[in-house]
Amino acid sequence: MCGIVGYAGSRNISEVLLQSLKRLEYRGYDSAGIAVVNGSLEVFKEKGDIDSLERKLPPLNGNVGIGHTRWATCGPPSRENAHPFVSQDNNIALVHNGIIENHIQLRRDLEKEGYSFTSETDTEVLVHLISKYYDGDLHKAVRRALRDVRGTYAIAAVEAHSEQIVVARNENPLVLGIGVSENFVASDVTAMLEYTSDVVYLLDGETAIVSPTGVSVYGPDGNVIYRPPSKVDWSVEEARKGGFEHYMLKEIFEQPHAISETLVGYLGEMEELNIIPHSKLDSMKILACGTSYNAGMVGKYIIEELTGIPVQVELASEYRYSKRTNHCPLVVLISQSGETADTLAACKEAKSRGSFTLAITNVVGSSITREADAVLMTHAGPEISVAATKTYTAQLVAMYILAGRLAHTTGHNSEEIRRLKASLRTLPLKVSEVLDRAADFKKASQIFRDARSVFFIGRNRNYPTMLEGALKMKEISYIHAEGYAAGELKHGPLALLDESTPLVAACLPDHTYDKMLTNVSEVAARGSPVLMIVEDGNTDCETIADYVIRLPAVDPLLSPVTLGVALQLLAYYVAKEKGLPIDKPRNLAKSVTVE
Ligand code: F6R
Repeated sequence: MCGIVGYAGSRNISEVLLQSLKRLEYRGYDSAGIAVVNGSLEVFKEKGDIDSLERKLPPLNGNVGIGHTRWATCGPPSRENAHPFVSQDNNIALVHNGIIENHIQLRRDLEKEGYSFTSETDTEVLVHLISKYYDGDLHKAVRRALRDVRGTYAIAAVEAHSEQIVVARNENPLVLGIGVSENFVASDVTAMLEYTSDVVYLLDGETAIVSPTGVSVYGPDGNVIYRPPSKVDWSVEEARKGGFEHYMLKEIFEQPHAISETLVGYLGEMEELNIIPHSKLDSMKILACGTSYNAGMVGKYIIEELTGIPVQVELASEYRYSKRTNHCPLVVLISQSGETADTLAACKEAKSRGSFTLAITNVVGSSITREADAVLMTHAGPEISVAATKTYTAQLVAMYILAGRLAHTTGHNSEEIRRLKASLRTLPLKVSEVLDRAADFKKASQIFRDARSVFFIGRNRNYPTMLEGALKMKEISYIHAEGYAAGELKHGPLALLDESTPLVAACLPDHTYDKMLTNVSEVAARGSPVLMIVEDGNTDCETIADYVIRLPAVDPLLSPVTLGVALQLLAYYVAKEKGLPIDKPRNLAKSVTVE
């Protein structure tokens, strides 16, 4: 995720661009840049946040400019990889949010035609492509270039001798702000609310030309579309959170996008990904902490099911001090921040024991990307709320991709791989359907109103999801919550269950469903309030459960994702009901860089 802005009008250009970018810093903050049209293109970029850029800017004149704040996805954070990118003839500057899927092939083709590159980014490929098709009409060149591109984007381009900004959108947000003799472009309305509340939302496949005097929107066929502006009645603070009360809720709702973005770069070439060792894989380990550990636990079930490779999941903090020397050919480290001290130490330790290390992280250029032998990036965008939500879901997606890759290597189940890919393609939609039911979760959260302790149970691949559900609950609602494999209940914890201790049970269709029903009935018989999470159409729950949450039907392999999202919402509504500081729970930090 990155933030893009554009301005056409007579205000102080650098002030408007910087101010607007600052409002988008939640979308990324590892480098920033602006391009201003002033007879020629004046481009300034810096590594770091927008203040770092501001400190370096000379006074600027001009009526048109674009800006960018970056969250690295393609190439590490650096001045070279910062936007805007400029064509070789210095005529066109471009900012981009999204991922160009076929950038490697496009880069090869452009290099053959004599274009040279100064960065590792997919965006630089796009600016050269636009320049290649440019014959004096920037809008036409952008439209032509985008025909060669596969992927997701929101872009804004300017040229040296015109007062127009050309923008385009496909699966990344872009909004146009309408003023009097001035107009705005941004990734979201937050960036422009100080200047205007009249906005036009661009839709997928559309382009637009923005100048000080007007805005024209064009459909995918190139015909002009008339779309009247809508009025935004948010305050600036409300808008920062996209109208959501908390970042956590906003990030929960961003999950369909986080899933698509993570899938887009990998799904097509899953079988070929260069992320595993060449040696024979007869075992592997996954090491991580907290929520990332739970994602690894889900990964264990998926990988073992699809490949037959035995997977051991260990807490990074335990592994790093363990004395075993057994050789393990592949060690996977999961860390959304890429900076967790225990996971980094575990990575070093695994390397010293001769293992090939694969890091799964959400932060390009983070310490773990430099430490590990290979990296599988998740593309959830920056997560502000301390409780991990969209980064966890993106980690699950990475687990499926890794499982598919390993299944290909081990020669297991090509039919299963095809099924996995097809199911993954439907996942963003399935998660959206879960989010549409948020009101049900809010209602069900009543079961926890007076609870001091809660149990979450599941079996098989949904057992670790219940560990994650319990972790989310304790983290933000401060209710003691325990995740258990349902079969373990009668080996101790059943002693704690009574009328004041609710039980949350995942009873989703798979080979353990009947066993789950028996376990839940045993608990219900002891008077514990029961919340059952079932699939649409389930009737068994009606006689057993006090509350029911229904989830849309999915391929059972993917149920940890839809279930995980449901449990996030549940924890959120419990914490909200209690009026707790959801985005910053007491005693916790987003990145745990100490032991
Ligand atoms: C819980 C949470 C933590 C992190 C853990 C590891 O919501 O966010 O449990 O999962 O601190 O962090 P990363 O993934 O950055 O290594």
